[in-house]
Amino acid sequence: MSPFLLTRTLPEDATDADLRADVLHGLTRNPKTLPPKWFYDAHGSELFEEITRLPEYYPTRAEREILIHRSAEIAGLSGARTLVELGSGSSDKTRHLLDALPDLHGYVPVDVSESALTGAAEAILDERPGLRVHALVADFTRGLALPGTPGPRLVAFLGGTIGNLLPAERAVFLRSVRSLLKPGDSLLLGTDLVKDEDTLVAAYDDAAGVTADFNKNVLAVINRELGADFDADDFAHVAVWDRKNEWIEMRLRARQTLTVKIRDLDLVVPFEYGEEMRTEVSAKFRQDGVRAELAAAGLTLRNWWTDEAGRFALSLSTAD
Ligand code: SAH
Ligand code: AVI
Repeated sequence: MSPFLLTRTLPEDATDADLRADVLHGLTRNPKTLPPKWFYDAHGSELFEEITRLPEYYPTRAEREILIHRSAEIAGLSGARTLVELGSGSSDKTRHLLDALPDLHGYVPVDVSESALTGAAEAILDERPGLRVHALVADFTRGLALPGTPGPRLVAFLGGTIGNLLPAERAVFLRSVRSLLKPGDSLLLGTDLVKDEDTLVAAYDDAAGVTADFNKNVLAVINRELGADFDADDFAHVAVWDRKNEWIEMRLRARQTLTVKIRDLDLVVPFEYGEEMRTEVSAKFRQDGVRAELAAAGLTLRNWWTDEAGRFALSLSTAD
């Protein structure tokens, strides 16, 4: 097998059809919503990388700290020959796991962002020319067909991205991950933890405004892909802590009463002054909740590690 393969698991027009359906559904309901996966075109993927370096955005540093200290233990417990990574992005933190898995046969990064996948594969193959990398351009919420690589498999879902799914979506997603796991396989899950509101809000409303640009990037994606005429300056970035649901909610708030035309949908969308459109939830977790959600999907939590300050957790679970 050549060292790098890239498979697009979605039909050519699937992304377009999905975006149309999500925008039509999300912008004709009240309150308006957009799913967060549309942040991640090439520019959005770069903005996310910039977010990970912001002083206020602690999750990446906290998860890296755990990986630096625990990758050898995780490697030993999983005995993985294949590392599958969902929502892999730049695969930057994954290096710690790859370094700890000397017998690894292959790495299977899965992401909707093709630019992130090719950039990550280039960087990884530069450092590990012998590794087989089979990248999948795929939506991990749409059921996954993984290549027939040797087991045991370690399926990693890092960054806290599971928190970007709503609770009902998480339940479906975890069951689909469960169905991928054979005896001996395991799931490594990154979850950001509940903490004080000021720290959380600052992480999603940084002083430099990078998260605001990331949030507004979804408007640029809709303008480009569906011929819409959103003006990013008409919207303000909003990040609020929802205490009851224990999630951060990112929204875009209309600065004035306006209408937006979406040419390819033949749709005119009215916004009232101050109206807010939800663009992302980022749920924060507690150990009991993670254990319960895993159990409901037929997964047993075996190990739980946090960074020194207790901000973020990695857990390892197996199928019952
Ligand atoms: N795991 C990396 C990147 C997190 S950013 C880290 O921890 O830093 C979230 C990543 O998930 C992005 O690369 C984005 O393109 C990808 N993503 C978001 N929704 C997705 C979906 N439904 N299917 C596949 N990938 C998705
Ligand atoms: C990818 N995901 C875990 C990020 C998060 O923290 O929810 C996305 C993000 N949104 C705003 N900043 C970062």
